[in-house]
Amino acid sequence: MAAQIIDGNALAKQVRAEVVGRVEALKARGVQPHLAIVLVGEDPASQVYVKHKVNDSEQTGLKATLERYPATLAEAQLLERIHALNADPTVHGILVQLPLPKHMDSHKVIEAISPAKDVDGFHVSSAGALMVGQPGFWPCTPHGCLKMLESIGYDLKGRNAVVIGRSNIVGKPMAMMLLAKDATVTICHSRTKDLASFTRNADVVVAAVGKRNVLTADMVKPGAVVIDVGMNRNDEGKLCGDVDFAGVSQVAGWITPVPGGVGPMTRAMLLVNTIDAAERATR
Ligand code: GUN
Repeated sequence: MAAQIIDGNALAKQVRAEVVGRVEALKARGVQPHLAIVLVGEDPASQVYVKHKVNDSEQTGLKATLERYPATLAEAQLLERIHALNADPTVHGILVQLPLPKHMDSHKVIEAISPAKDVDGFHVSSAGALMVGQPGFWPCTPHGCLKMLESIGYDLKGRNAVVIGRSNIVGKPMAMMLLAKDATVTICHSRTKDLASFTRNADVVVAAVGKRNVLTADMVKPGAVVIDVGMNRNDEGKLCGDVDFAGVSQVAGWITPVPGGVGPMTRAMLLVNTIDAAERATR
C-alpha cells in the first residue's frame, strides 16, 4: 500500500495563518514584530533564501529588514553591526545568513547574536536550552519536522526513531526534540556501519544527510514514518531528497515529499520563532 503524504505546503499554510493572528494581536498593542536579516557576500543560493525569508515575513505582517554587505566586510564590522541590532529594542529577531565569507569565524559571529533574538536557534545557548529542556529558540528545520509528526497525530512515546545525519542545525537538535517526546533515539551518520540494521527497526526515520538515495525501500520497516530533509538534484537536475521516494513510499506508512515537504515548514518555523521572540520581548 502506498504511504500517505505529509503535505508541507498545506501545513506551512496553517502555521502561517496562526502567525498572522499573533502578529495582529501584537500590532493591536503597538508592537511591530521585526526580523533583521544580515547577508554578507553574493552567494547565489543565499540570495534566494533571504529573498524568501523577506517575502514570507512581509506576507504574514512581520517587518523584515535586509542588510546587505560586501564579501570584503571585516569581521569586526559585522560584529559591531550585530551588537547594534542586539541593542535595538525595535528588532526582535536577528538572522545572519550562512555561509559567511571564508575570512570570518561563523561560530564567533553566531555567538555575538543575543540569545533572546537568536531566531535561527544556532547559538550555543539555544542548543543548550534545547538539550536541558529550557525555553529557547529551536532550529527551524528539525522543529518543522516535529510539527509534521504532530500534524499526523503521531505519538512518539516509546517509538524507535533514527536520525540520519549529525549536523548541529538538523541532526543533533532533531535527536534532542525526539528524545524530549520520549522516543528512543539513534543518531546514524557517515561512519555508521550497516545503516539498514538501524533503519529497519525504526518507527520514524529522519534523513538529513544531503545525499540522494540514502534511504531505500529495503531499509524501511513497513508502516514507518519517513521525514526527508534532503535537498539534492537528480541526474535530470530535478530537486530530490535523501530518500528514494518512489521505492520508500511503497513501504512506509507516511512520507514527506521533496519539494513540498520539510522545506516550506522550515520557512514557516522561522516566522514562528520571530513572533515568539517579539512576544517574549514585549510581555
Ligand atoms: N543557510 C542555509 N540555511 C540557513 C538557515 O536556516 N539559516 C541561516 N542563518 N543560514 C542558512
